[in-house]
Amino acid sequence: MIAPAEAARIALAEFGLGGIATRLDGEYDDNFLLETPEARYVLKIMHTGADAAVVDMQVAALRHLAKVPRVIGEPRIVDGRIVWLLSFVEGRLYAHVRPHSEALLESLGATLASYDTGLKDFTHPASRRALKWDLARAEWALPIADERVRPILEHYVSDVQPRLSGLRAQVIHNDANDYNVVVADGTVAGIIDFGDMLHAPLICEVAIAAAYALMGHEDVLAALRALVRGYHRVLPLHDDELALLLPLIQTRLAVSVVNSTIRCAAEPDNEYLRVSEAPACALLERFRLVHPRLALYHLRSACGLRVVPPVALPRAVSPVIAGVSTEIVDLSPASDCEIDRVTGGIGRYAEPRLVYTSGLFARSLAPTAERRTIHIGLDLFAPMGTPVMAPLDGVVHAKAFNDAPLDYGPVVVLKHDGFFTLYGHLSAETLSSIEVGETVKAGQSFARLGAKEINGGWTPHLHMQVLLDDLDDSCDFPGVAYPSEFEIYRELSPDPNRILQLPVISTFENETIEDLARERRASIGPNLSVSYAKPIAMARGWMQYLYDTDGQRYLDFYNNVPHVGHCHPHVVRAVQKQLATLNTNTRYLNEALARYARALTAKMPEPLRVVFLTASGSEANELAIRLARTYTGRRDIAVMASGYHGHTNTMIDASEYKFAGPGGAGKPDWVRLVPVADSYRNRAGCVFPADAVRGAAAFLCESFPSVGGQIVFPEGYLQSAYAATRAAGGVCIADEVQTGFGRLGSHFWGFDAHGAQPDIVVLGKPIGNGFPMGAVVTTRAIADAFANGMEFFSTFGGSNASCAAGLAVLEVIEREGLQEHARVVGDRLLAELRSLNHELIGDVRGAGLFLGIELVEDRETKAPAARGAARLVNRFRDHGILLGTDGPLHNVIKLRGPLPLTFDDAEFFVEVFAKLLWENA
Ligand SMILES: Cc1ncc(COP(=O)(O)O)c(C=O)c1O
Repeated sequence: MIAPAEAARIALAEFGLGGIATRLDGEYDDNFLLETPEARYVLKIMHTGADAAVVDMQVAALRHLAKVPRVIGEPRIVDGRIVWLLSFVEGRLYAHVRPHSEALLESLGATLASYDTGLKDFTHPASRRALKWDLARAEWALPIADERVRPILEHYVSDVQPRLSGLRAQVIHNDANDYNVVVADGTVAGIIDFGDMLHAPLICEVAIAAAYALMGHEDVLAALRALVRGYHRVLPLHDDELALLLPLIQTRLAVSVVNSTIRCAAEPDNEYLRVSEAPACALLERFRLVHPRLALYHLRSACGLRVVPPVALPRAVSPVIAGVSTEIVDLSPASDCEIDRVTGGIGRYAEPRLVYTSGLFARSLAPTAERRTIHIGLDLFAPMGTPVMAPLDGVVHAKAFNDAPLDYGPVVVLKHDGFFTLYGHLSAETLSSIEVGETVKAGQSFARLGAKEINGGWTPHLHMQVLLDDLDDSCDFPGVAYPSEFEIYRELSPDPNRILQLPVISTFENETIEDLARERRASIGPNLSVSYAKPIAMARGWMQYLYDTDGQRYLDFYNNVPHVGHCHPHVVRAVQKQLATLNTNTRYLNEALARYARALTAKMPEPLRVVFLTASGSEANELAIRLARTYTGRRDIAVMASGYHGHTNTMIDASEYKFAGPGGAGKPDWVRLVPVADSYRNRAGCVFPADAVRGAAAFLCESFPSVGGQIVFPEGYLQSAYAATRAAGGVCIADEVQTGFGRLGSHFWGFDAHGAQPDIVVLGKPIGNGFPMGAVVTTRAIADAFANGMEFFSTFGGSNASCAAGLAVLEVIEREGLQEHARVVGDRLLAELRSLNHELIGDVRGAGLFLGIELVEDRETKAPAARGAARLVNRFRDHGILLGTDGPLHNVIKLRGPLPLTFDDAEFFVEVFAKLLWENA
C-alpha cells in the first residue's frame, strides 16, 4: 500500500503538481485525492499486474467522451505500477445523498444516457474482455446459485440471454453504482470509475444502474420509471430493450447475491459481506410482488410509449342495466353528493374520489403518502336485485368474493375477443348461479346487483370495468388507481362507455394545475402569491384536513382561520340557516348582535365589555387605532418591529414587515418602533423601551408575534410594556388575530397568558372559522369617547350571518373542549420537537397549537437557515403536511393548524420531520 506522502511525491515528480494527497476508496488500486492550490485531482496508482490495455481503454474513452472526469497528461509506469491522473469531479457521491428523489433518479438516467451517447462510436479491443460483471454472460452464476435466486438465473438462461444478441450493443460504463455517481446541486454531475467498461447490450447499462439505484426505495416502480424516463429522454430505448430490462435488473441482483455468497464462503467471518447482500435480496423480493407485464407497462409509460396495443372495443349489443338513469352521480372531492341517498345514475370514469382510504395494493407498491383515488371503471347505480346483462358475447373467465371494506364484493369477469369486462358489487347468488368457462350471450342476464352489506358497504350499484390485460388475476384487478399511475391504467382499463355508449360525458376531467394557474394569472393581481414550488389545487376541507382535486389528503398544520376545523358542521349549519332566513346589517334590531357581544365579552376580563364588529382583522385594527386616537387626542402609534397588522393603508404603515419590506415606502413619522422582545435572538430587546410610548396614542402589539417568528415574550415583558404605555398616557392594544380563542391552550387570549390587561383587543381570523369577520373589544370609557358624533358603520360588520358564525365558533370551542385539547396536543408536540435535538433546530417555542421551529445553519452563530426552511416546507408538502415559514429571517417554521389536530397527527408530523431532517440533498 502506498502512503499519501509517497503519492504526493509521485504527483510532483511525474505530473509537476505539488499538493496534499488523501487516500480514496479503491478495491484493488491505490487512489488519492490530490489537492493543489489551483485544483483537485484523482491520482490512480494501479495495482501491480493491472491490465495496461484496460487503463488505455479508459484513457481513450474519457478523451473520446470529453466529459468529466478529464485525463490529465499521459499514464506512466512508476516502480512497475501504472500511474495516471484525472480531474476530480466535484460534488457528493450519490450514495451519500439523501433522499434519492425522482428528480435525482431522472437526472441519473439522463446523465448515463449522455455518456452512452458519447461512447456510441467508441471502440477498443479491451472492451471485449471477459468479466464476471458482464450481464450478457451471467450464466456462470447459475450452477452455484441458491434457491433465492436460481429461478431468476434459470429464466435468464432460457429466455433472456438468447434475446440479447438481437439488441444494439456498444461500449458502456457497466457499473453506475451509487459510489460511481457524483451529485452536485441536486443533479448528477458525472459518472466516475470506468474500470468495468465493456462492449455489451446498451440496455445492460440501465439495468445495472437500476439494480443499485432502486435499492431502499419504497416504491420501486416509481423509482424505475424516473430513471428510465431520464435515460429515454436523452437516448430513446427500443421496445425490445425495455422488454428485457426488468429480467436484466433481476439478473444483475442475482449475480450480486451469488458473488457475495462466494466471497462469504471465502471469508466466513466477514459479517459485512453477509449483511451487504440484504438490500439486493430485499429488492428482488419487491420485484417478486410485481407482475412482470405490469412492470413493463410502467417502463413503457415512463418512455411515453403506448402501454398496450390499442384494442378496437365493440359497441354493446345489449344494455348492461335496462333503463339505467343517466344522471351523473358526482363523487369527486368537491361534490356534496350523499352517496347513501343515491338510487340511480352514473358514477364517472377517471373521477378522483375521497371514499377510498384503504392502503396499498401488493401489486402497486405506491408510496404511503399517495392515496388511491382515481376510479377506473364506470358505476351504474340501480336498486339491489336489478338484473345485470352481458353487453357482448363472452365467456365467464373468473368469479370471486372480495369481501374487504370498499372492495368489489361478489365479482365476475367475462372474457371477450382481446379484452375482459369486470362486474363488481353483485349478489351472492350470482356466484353460485354461473360457472367459469360458461358462455354468456349478449343480452343474457347473468347476475344481479347485490346488497350493501356484502358489497363493502356500498350503495347498490354495478362497478363495470374493462381490462385489456387482466394481469393473470382478474378478480383482484384494482378498480381505483393512484394518480401517479393513472396514465398506465387509462390504457389498461379504458372507459367502459366506449362499449356501453351511454349518452353521458362519462369521463371525469379536472382542470390541470397549469390551466388553473394560467386562468388565475389572466385576471388576478400578480402579487397574490401561491404556496409551494408545486402548487396545490384544493377541492375540499374537513376538520384538520384539506383535499386536492386529485383527492390527495393534506394534514393542515398551517391554516389558523379554520380554528375549530375546516367546514365544521356546526358552524356551517349555523351560517347556512342564518343566510337562508335573514342577513342584514346593524341598523336593525336583532337579538343575535347583542347575544354574540355578550358571549364574546364573557370570555374577556372586566372592563372589556363593548364590542364593535368588522369584516376583517385589518379593519378591526384600523378601528382600534381610531378609538385610541380619539380617546387620547394623540396621533403617534408605537408598534413592535417585524409586525404585521393588516393590508389597509394605515396598517401597512404600522407593519414593519410591510413598510420595510419589498415595495414598502418606509416608516411614516407617526410610527414608533419597539424592538422585538425575542429572547432567542435579541436579548437586548427584551426590556421594553419606555421612551417609545412617550406622547403616543397607543402601543399596538401582538400578544405572541406570529409574522415576527412565533415569538414568546419573556415573563413580565407585556405587563411592563402596558404599564409604561399607561404611565405615558397611551392605551394598550392587543392584536389577538393570531392567538385568540384558545389556541394557546393554557389561556383563551394571548394577553391573559402574560397576565397583562389591554384597553383594546383586536380579533380576526379564527373568530368566524372562515366567515369573514373581525372585532374590536374595548372599555366603556373608550367607546364613549369614540361616540363623538360621527356614526360608525361597517356594512358587513355585525351582519346576522357573522353573528351566527361567531356564536357557533364559541359554542364549538366550549362543547369540544378545544382549548384544553390544544394544550395537551401542543404540550406533546412541543416536547417531542424539543427531543429531536438536531443541529438544524435552533429553537422550538410556543404554546398550545401556536408553535415555531427556528432553523439555523449553526447553533453557535445562529445563522438563519432560510433555504433549509423553505426546502423543508416543500418536502413536508410532498409528505402531505401543510406548513409555512415566517420571521424576519424567513427561517421559522410555524405550526398553527386547526385545533382538532390530534395526538396521532402530532406524532405523524414529528415522524416526518425526523425523516426530513435526515435528508441532505
Ligand atoms: C396579527 C394580524 N393582525 C391583523 C391581520 C389582518 O387580518 P385580515 O387579513 O383579516 O385583514 C393579520 C393577518 O394576517 C394578522 O396576522
